[in-house]
This record gives sequence, C-alpha cells and structure tokens, in this order.
Amino acid sequence: SYLKFDASALKKYVNDNELNEIKPMLNTAKDLLLSGSGVESDMRQWLDLPTNYDKNEFNRIKQAAKNIQKDSKVLVVIGIGGSYLGARMAIDYLHDSYFNYMPDDKRDFPQVLFAGNSISGSYINSLIKIIGDRDFSVNVISKSGTTTEPSIAFRIFHKLLIEKYGLEAANKRIYVTTDAENGALRQEVKANGYESFIIPNGVGGRYSVLTPVGLLPIAVSGVNIDELMAGAAEAQAEYATKAVEENSALQYAAYRNILYRKGYTNEIFEGYEPNLRYFAEWWKQLAGESEGKDFKGIYPTSAMFSTDLHSLGQYIQQGRRDLMETVIKIQNPPTDVDVPITGKNGDGIQYLEGKTMNYVNDKAFESVIIAHTNGGVPNMIINVKDQTPHTLGYAIYFFEFAISVSGYLNGINPFNQPGVEDYKKNMFALLGKPGYEALKAQIENEK
Ligand code: PA5
Repeated sequence: SYLKFDASALKKYVNDNELNEIKPMLNTAKDLLLSGSGVESDMRQWLDLPTNYDKNEFNRIKQAAKNIQKDSKVLVVIGIGGSYLGARMAIDYLHDSYFNYMPDDKRDFPQVLFAGNSISGSYINSLIKIIGDRDFSVNVISKSGTTTEPSIAFRIFHKLLIEKYGLEAANKRIYVTTDAENGALRQEVKANGYESFIIPNGVGGRYSVLTPVGLLPIAVSGVNIDELMAGAAEAQAEYATKAVEENSALQYAAYRNILYRKGYTNEIFEGYEPNLRYFAEWWKQLAGESEGKDFKGIYPTSAMFSTDLHSLGQYIQQGRRDLMETVIKIQNPPTDVDVPITGKNGDGIQYLEGKTMNYVNDKAFESVIIAHTNGGVPNMIINVKDQTPHTLGYAIYFFEFAISVSGYLNGINPFNQPGVEDYKKNMFALLGKPGYEALKAQIENEK
C-alpha cells in the first residue's frame, strides 16, 4: 500500500471502543463531503480532480514544461499560500535534497526558485543575484490575481525579462496560472497574450496542488505528472468507498478528533527525512486554514527529526501536555549510506559498523515513539511507501480528504478562510490603497 495510518502507538490514550463511538459522526462528516450536503459544497471540486480534469490543458502544461526546460535554466515561480506551497512541497519531496543547488551541468532540468511568498526586498535581490545572466522564465500563480506579494514580485521579474529579452520575447517567457475570468492577472493575460492556465473555481488555494498551480512547476522540475495524478486517483477510489476499518484517511480524521476532544489541541507534523520540510508547511496551511476558525480547531505545527530532537525535543518530552504527534515514516527512502568501517572506536560508534544510516534513523524513530508516548504525547504514525510521484499523489489526496472530513467532524466550514483577510485590509489601509481611506482613519484614531 502507498500509505497506511497506524494507531498502534495510541493504546495508552484511546480505548478500543472510541473509534466505534465516533463512527456515526465520522460517517456523517464523510457523507457531507461526498454528497455535497455540507457547507460551502461548491468548493469540493478537488475531490474529483484526479479523474476529472481538463486533458487538453494537462497536455498544454506538459508542453509548456518542455518549452521551459528547453529555453530556461531557471523557472521563477511567483505565488504565496495555496498558490505556492504545493509545488514547493512536491519538488522538495521528489528530488534530491540539493536539486535546486546543483550547478546547471549537474541537473537535467531547470532550477525552480520561488518568489512572491514574502515581502522581503533582500530576498528578491538575492534571487536576482543567483539567476545572474542565465536564461529564465516566470510562472506567476494567483487565483484572485490581486494578491500583493506576488503582484510586486511579478512586476519586478517582468521588468527584468523585458530588459533581458525585449517586450515580445519576454512575454513568451511568462506563464500565468489564475482564474478563468476574474482578477487583474486574467486581464493582463488578455492584454498581452501570455500562455495561461486556469485555477478551477471550485478548488481553494490549499487544495490546488493537483491543478496547474502545482502541476506546471512540478512538471518543469522533471517529475512525471501523469504518475502524480494516477496516485491521487487511486486514493480517490479508496477513500470515497472504503469503510473506516480499511480507510486510512477516515482513521486519521477520527483519531485526531478523538485526541483533540481530550485536550490535545496542538498537532506536530514530523518526519525523519529533510525533504519533508515543505510537506509540513503545505500540511500546516491545509490543516490550519481549513480547521482554525469559530474559535476552535487543532493548531498545526511541525518539527523535523532527528534535527529538532535536539531543540524542540525537550518541550515535546516534558512541556505542557496538550501535544499530539503525527509522524510521517517513509518506508523506503531512495538511497542509503553505510556507516564506515574503520576498525577503531576513537569516536565511540564502532558498534554501528555494518549498519546503515537508514537503519539508525529507523531506530531513532522507534525510540522517539516510545519516549514521547511514555512522556504523555500521543503519537499517530503515517507509513508512506516511498518518495515517488505516484505515492506523493496518493498522500496528497489522503491529507486533503482527511482534513476536510475532520473539519466537518468538528462542525466548521473546511473550505473558507475568512481570517486571512483581516490583516490584508489593514495593510491596504496603511499603504494607502484607494477605497481603504475610512479604515486608515480608523486605525490612525486607535493608535
Ligand atoms: O488558501 C488561501 O486562500 C490563501 O493561502 C491563498 O492561497 C493565498 O492568499 C494566495 O491567494 P491567491 O492565489 O489569490 O494569490
């Protein structure tokens, strides 16, 4: 199996009967999702994406990826939040840790770098420096087409493209992913004839990695996106039909809610492979934006092991007891390294001779589960087969399905994000955006 939820470490925290007891509510939540009778049901288009997507557009994505691979050494992907994290997560998960750092002659595909996910001028300057005089293209991604961070970054890289290639050739290096009709970016597509792709209406940012939002950058990095979709399709078929006893996504949704109701209100997403760092960031948005509202919801956070065992490990072992852990265990990491045999014990690790690093990593994982479970932190384990596109597609669908069921189970709308707007309105007011004069006056009054 590509992914399996494992509740075996929860025995101390959850009695056998509890899954049965939450089952009626769990099944209602699943039915709300699948039947569309829950709130915000028009935002469930992601449910069918793995099997029901625009095949012509999919082929255009593959063609665009080929063109970029041919004419560019760097693809600058401009976007933030749901228009950024999926692609970054997938590229990190599927490639060597140093894929993006290799010199061009050691990498078969363009470097994929990201912009528009902060408002740091220093970051942009550094990005411009690393591109240097190499050929590059831009994929700007924004569903609304009006988000400040990507809009600023796009202006900057558009200007650089024009300076380098002239207006006409520059416009051919711009790939826009946005709404079919609405927003400033779509208007720019219409005015300048950029190659463009559509973010479907019924797919929110955090559920959009399997749309052109994620697919184009992922394809440019050399990943087989057919395999990614095939993996997700397999998960779709299973999670929509199987009962909770055989349904890992429903099990994860159920157990994290059982634990949440016992006071474990913070969930730490953990992995033992550094390539999972952005998987955690993607998951945090998916979980946090879907569930944190109406003054409730699990607070999603993350740690990478064994790295953070040497920092956060202390808190997890002995701090406040409101934590639960969700550990991603990659069953077959792509490569391994032997602990060198020296025949000496000056460094005190001769006992590890004949072992591999993955073996040691596995023992760290087992040890931590025991220590943290004994220390008062319930642990859920998600076994993931490997780091291939097929498995990743499957895992993406697993989390999207589980988190949305989990949201309905907790009585909230898993598909809106009203809270994200509050700071934006204040920022527009403080920056003097037309239309925000009254709010500006109000903020200044309150100072
Ligand atoms: O999930 C969300 O709604 C947000 O994180 C958005 O994805 C983010 O704000 C970017 O929005 P847009 O794609 O409209 O630029």
